[in-house]
Amino acid sequence: MSGFSIDWLDLREGADNRARDDELLGQARHWLGTDMTPASEKIVVDLGSGTGSTLRAFSAGPVSSTEQGSLNWRLVDQDAALLAEANCRHGDSQQLKTFEIDLTNIAALPLEGANLITASALFDLVSADFIDRLVSELQNKCQQQPVGFYAALNYDGRTSWTPAHSLDEAVLDAFNRDQKRDKGFGQALGPDACAYMERKFKGAGFKVLAANSHWELDGSDGDMVSALISGISEAVAHDSALDPAALEGWIQFRKAHSATGTCTVGHIDLLALPNSD
Ligand SMILES: C[S@@+](CC[C@H](N)C(=O)[O-])C[C@H]1O[C@@H](n2cnc3c(N)ncnc32)[C@H](O)[C@@H]1O
Repeated sequence: MSGFSIDWLDLREGADNRARDDELLGQARHWLGTDMTPASEKIVVDLGSGTGSTLRAFSAGPVSSTEQGSLNWRLVDQDAALLAEANCRHGDSQQLKTFEIDLTNIAALPLEGANLITASALFDLVSADFIDRLVSELQNKCQQQPVGFYAALNYDGRTSWTPAHSLDEAVLDAFNRDQKRDKGFGQALGPDACAYMERKFKGAGFKVLAANSHWELDGSDGDMVSALISGISEAVAHDSALDPAALEGWIQFRKAHSATGTCTVGHIDLLALPNSD
């Protein structure tokens, strides 16, 4: 168990798909069809795959299979139940293998022969040390075969609501403090993850592209917004800067407006490709 339920991942997937930057997703797919990835069977390794949302995003849309070739997915997660669900949903229709591995064990990751590493909603959980080690591993792999990296939906610290409430800013500050708690990788980068990755991949000689992928939520996402409010309130419940009674008032107000208000949550997608020159 990882603490990420199938229900929550299903709830957020529609908003994730609307938010993903189409241009970057298209370029990640296109990378799999270039001379830099000549094999007819492309290997994609999805880190922290959950039930396979990145696989589904790559499979959807107007792309022809010849552009990206035939994809061989390796889904990596530490949560056996999520991997079992991924297998159940896609095992018959996709070439896919699942790997129950703790990502911090980078040496154990099935990166051999990989053309592209992907992830979604993962990198705000990780530490600077994890990114350093992963970038260095990918830089080494590129000596044998070029490997690209696509990480979508990295939380960037921005959240705004309508209608406004006087505690919004204090709750967001507390939430962003919680984002930096250790999530199993050492102190998490939280909202700083994307800028850190960008710097590290550029330093390692990759070409880096980034684009906003904000959730734009309204009443049609009411169930998800309700779950989001619960998640935020759990994350900030023990923050000493928030008065518990005031926080309870904020929760009640937000839930009362979940079907009529709006919520924007900032994310950034990042694509890092080895330079061809
Ligand atoms: C927010 S979920 C995103 C899941 C999926 N990528 C998606 O977008 O629906 C984060 C995922 O990372 C996995 N995860 C977190 N820490 C991990 C670790 N140390 N090793 C392996 N997987 C991990 C969780 O089990 C979960 O599936």
